[in-house]
Amino acid sequence: MKRSEINRVIDEAREFWGSLGFLLPPYAVWDLDAWRACCDDWTEIFDLGIGWDVTSFGEEDFLKCGLLLYTLRNGKLGSVQYPKPYAEKIMMVREGQVTPRHFHWHKREDIINRGGGNLVIELFRADPSANRVCGGPFSISVNGIRRQMNSGEKLILTPGESVALEPIHAHKFYGEPGSGPSMIGEVSMVNDDVNDNCFVDGAIRFVPVIEDEPPRYLLACEYRQFLKG
Ligand SMILES: [Fe+2]
Repeated sequence: MKRSEINRVIDEAREFWGSLGFLLPPYAVWDLDAWRACCDDWTEIFDLGIGWDVTSFGEEDFLKCGLLLYTLRNGKLGSVQYPKPYAEKIMMVREGQVTPRHFHWHKREDIINRGGGNLVIELFRADPSANRVCGGPFSISVNGIRRQMNSGEKLILTPGESVALEPIHAHKFYGEPGSGPSMIGEVSMVNDDVNDNCFVDGAIRFVPVIEDEPPRYLLACEYRQFLKG
């Protein structure tokens, strides 16, 4: 993705979340100079990937296939230094903007529609031990109520609704066309985007950045590259 597009979509997300009253930590708006000027110990933020995350999953058009997230808190699996067992993210999902089908071997996550448009989630029964989607019926908790679904069925979350995804629930999601962008929360077990995503159709989680203008924000995966911390 071009840096200019990353800068622009983060600006848009800040405005969108702000319009819904959702605020970020102070350093979410820091540019490179502000990070360089700070003298506090930001090791935990760097180590746990707290901050911006923008990806097109290896596709050309971010608005058709992509996701913008901010990781608000996290821990590290098996770490004595970072024993926190939970994580939280906020996402902006646009109408028809697809996050490709995937599941997590370890992480359980609640996906929560926190405002704006509706979120469509296509659900598939997965076999995590075989790294594949296997089809068939499954049980899932929607708003805390168990229901039976079949692999490939759609679930629509309106604002306020949530679903609890387990490792057997492969999921693909996008904003419902005509309903506007949605602010989506994730409350989960520890998040490890490097090792705990199985994209069954071959998507790429982190994409290279083309530097066509200076960064107005650093992505969480870039702190050490830019700041040599
Ligand atoms: Fe997921």
